[in-house]
Amino acid sequence: VRGPVIAVDGPAAAGKGTLAKRLAKALGVPYLDTGLLYRAVGRLVLDAGDNPADPAEAFATRLTPADLARKDLRTPDVTRAASEVAAQPAVREALIATQRSFVGPEGAVLDGRDIGTVIFPDAEVKLFITASAATRALRRFLQQGGDMQAPDAALVLKETQEALSARDLADSQRAVAPLKPAGDALQIETDHLDADQVLAQALAYARERL
Ligand code: C5P
Repeated sequence: VRGPVIAVDGPAAAGKGTLAKRLAKALGVPYLDTGLLYRAVGRLVLDAGDNPADPAEAFATRLTPADLARKDLRTPDVTRAASEVAAQPAVREALIATQRSFVGPEGAVLDGRDIGTVIFPDAEVKLFITASAATRALRRFLQQGGDMQAPDAALVLKETQEALSARDLADSQRAVAPLKPAGDALQIETDHLDADQVLAQALAYARERL
């Protein structure tokens, strides 16, 4: 039997990864960034070029730890490819077992888009982390080493926000496992919270349920 699952879902750059990692550490359980699975499939599809007709599903069924450990999974082209392959039902289907079997008797924290709705609808703790598009774009910009004083800062920030919004729209509108809060998720809106405050809220909520 599996241990308790803590599902952390939400749109891009809302702070899911930061929170999920810190929650896992605080609770002493393993952490899985499920976005990496879709990124790895997207990367393999890009590497394959135009060769096979529709290889995404095949890649998803035989992902290796080495595919997930690649350094080049966060480039803009991989990010777009990840969101594209993530809309394919067969790709999602192929990755379900990988995600479910990650959770052992000690439990785990998983972050993604559909953990609390599809992968673990019976998760003990469900969190949905949000922030406005402007806040998320600024966080992503600074995280990528952006300088607010640079002459092109406003332009880069605008492009970052457009890319995030386009991806959220695609992730929210796809037919299979769209991005949306589970009915029984605690939503944390993080515009006016720092990472420590988000962790404190999430941890208090999780401890009541574990
Ligand atoms: O979380 P991250 O930004 O790394 O995810 C990359 C893409 O993978 C997302 O835009 C989304 O399309 C997809 N994804 C998903 N379901 C998950 C995790 C990620 O569809 N559980």
